[in-house]
Amino acid sequence: MAVERIGVVGLGAMGAGIAQVAIEAGFEVVGREVTTELGEAAAGRIGHFLTRKVEKGQRTQDERDAAVARLTTTSELSKLSECDLVIEAIVEELDAKRALFAELERICRTDAVLATNTSALSVTEIAAATATPERVVGMHFFNPAPLMPLVEVVRAQLSADEAVAAALAIVERLGKVAVPCHDTPGFVVNRVLIPLLNDCVRVLDEARVTPESLDAAMTNGAGWPMGPCTLLDLVGIDVHVHASEALYEKLREPRMAPPPRIVGMRNAGLLGRKSSRGFYGYE
Ligand code: CAA
Repeated sequence: MAVERIGVVGLGAMGAGIAQVAIEAGFEVVGREVTTELGEAAAGRIGHFLTRKVEKGQRTQDERDAAVARLTTTSELSKLSECDLVIEAIVEELDAKRALFAELERICRTDAVLATNTSALSVTEIAAATATPERVVGMHFFNPAPLMPLVEVVRAQLSADEAVAAALAIVERLGKVAVPCHDTPGFVVNRVLIPLLNDCVRVLDEARVTPESLDAAMTNGAGWPMGPCTLLDLVGIDVHVHASEALYEKLREPRMAPPPRIVGMRNAGLLGRKSSRGFYGYE
């Protein structure tokens, strides 16, 4: 199927990043947030990142303006009715996602593909909230979406070949790298990365090193592009704890369980960049 118009539900860090990638690739995007103000704020952040690209000579002003013009934001889900593909990037709560997919099924055309950007929930369980689970797939982007090349294209139990093929074709048009996989807990990257990051947090106390030292160790000794504490602050401490808990619930592997230190940070509101404080402080 020809996908020209993409809906993105939820314009937080991930949704706004996905919307940015899509308008840069030439798609018309309808972004939905719960309020008009939140939608406009997200559009402003996207416009800012594209302006930086102009300043750095990576885009012309005309290209930037044309990309921005391809984005509309709305607080009404019904405005997504003409989208060929809808990517959901709302809060990582199963009930909220299931309710949204049931609603999207009602609103969208019958041939529209419905994708979830979930990182740790079951795509199959989300799809089961609809009467047409064959058109539901996972499209899992990585943070920050405009910079990270990978998109895991997740085949749920009842995903149709056509829906998976459509998602793979879109990832290619977005200029990203697709890795098709099945709907197992954490898919590919988070199945490996979540326990690894939990080990990193445990070693802080075991080896009695500071976040700065651990980050220096992993960037200089293991070639990581950013240290684990910097990465956790970027991803969001709350997001990481939630993903760890979801994977632990499914796999029961001790390394999946979030260490008490990071749960304590979440409970104290030290959420990383988004709250200006995590392992590090931010302006
Ligand atoms: N959105 C859009 N543009 C952004 C952005 C964002 N969130 N963040 C940065 N940029 C733009 C900025 O314009 C920036 O340039 P300026 O600061 O000059 O404006 C430009 O990108 C380049 O930024 P950096 O100089 O910081 O880029 P870098 O070369 O240092 O690379 C990185 C940054 C790609 C993030 C790299 O450090 C990296 O690969 N880190 C690891 C990230 C990672 O592992 N992510 C996965 C997280 S896990 C996950 O996402 C799974 C999950 O389900 C939770």
